[in-house]
Amino acid sequence: MSGDFDLTGKVCVVTGAGRGIGRGMAEGLARNGALVVLTGRTRTTLEEAAESFGERAFIQTADVSKEADVIALRDAVLAHFGKIDVLVNNAGVNAIFKGIERTSLTEWQEIIDVNLTGVFLCCKYIGGAMTQGGSVINVSSVAGHTGLLRSVPYCASKGGVEMLTKALALDWASKGVRVNTLAPGWVDTDLTHGLLEHDVHGQRLKARTPMGRFAGPDDMAGGVVFLASDASAYMTGQSLVIDGGWTAG
Ligand SMILES: NC(=O)c1ccc[n+]([C@@H]2O[C@H](COP(=O)([O-])OP(=O)(O)OC[C@H]3O[C@@H](n4cnc5c(N)ncnc54)[C@H](OP(=O)(O)O)[C@@H]3O)[C@@H](O)[C@H]2O)c1
Repeated sequence: MSGDFDLTGKVCVVTGAGRGIGRGMAEGLARNGALVVLTGRTRTTLEEAAESFGERAFIQTADVSKEADVIALRDAVLAHFGKIDVLVNNAGVNAIFKGIERTSLTEWQEIIDVNLTGVFLCCKYIGGAMTQGGSVINVSSVAGHTGLLRSVPYCASKGGVEMLTKALALDWASKGVRVNTLAPGWVDTDLTHGLLEHDVHGQRLKARTPMGRFAGPDDMAGGVVFLASDASAYMTGQSLVIDGGWTAG
């Protein structure tokens, strides 16, 4: 394939790529010609996800909240492919739905460590290795734009990702590295399945979604290809919200 959306030969690192949204994004990038680096903490899911990509995939386990893991990931990708063009910071967690009174410091810290510090570390070391220009795509959420009930740490982490993105976009614009967020609405994955299937809460969330359905991971693939490719060459510091209309109302 050629043209604005073509990613042939581009090395794209996707964190949290073994399942869910990250896997859907890695598949979308690979369909458009990318060489994909699949990373996460669990080797088996990464191997399974990489099966269909053959030689175009490279796997490395890493916990994005650990500085040494992120540095080792960067070094392994550079040793294997010799460059990094695209970084998709997708790895994220939301272990809890409860009020702040019942949220422990440990629970707060776990979410901030992965969702925000993980993005900081990957931008610093992997984005920092983009010497020929590139694109960083931070997966935020509608929770980075609007509050969600009983989700203080998650919303704080995603709001942080939105502002980290804007600030970094300013710093890196002159060296040709674009930095944007992709902010999904409700996507049916391991992270959300219990909630979305819930008789009361799931139905309420669906009814509140203007398009009347939850997304699948594939619904995020077009957006990540757009942000990774030259189709978005003049776009930086922005948030691409893909939410079935959730934040429109
Ligand atoms: N699902 C939604 O409705 C929704 C909506 C808005 C935004 N998002 C965001 O989209 C992203 C992906 O969510 P998802 O729904 O696809 O979740 P998911 O199905 O639970 O997948 C999360 C992925 O992140 C990886 N991960 C978790 N902690 C990690 C760590 N410390 N280091 C490296 N990898 C880690 C997991 O792999 P391992 O466990 O193997 O490490 C897994 O591949 C998250 O940032 C989430 O906040 C999701």
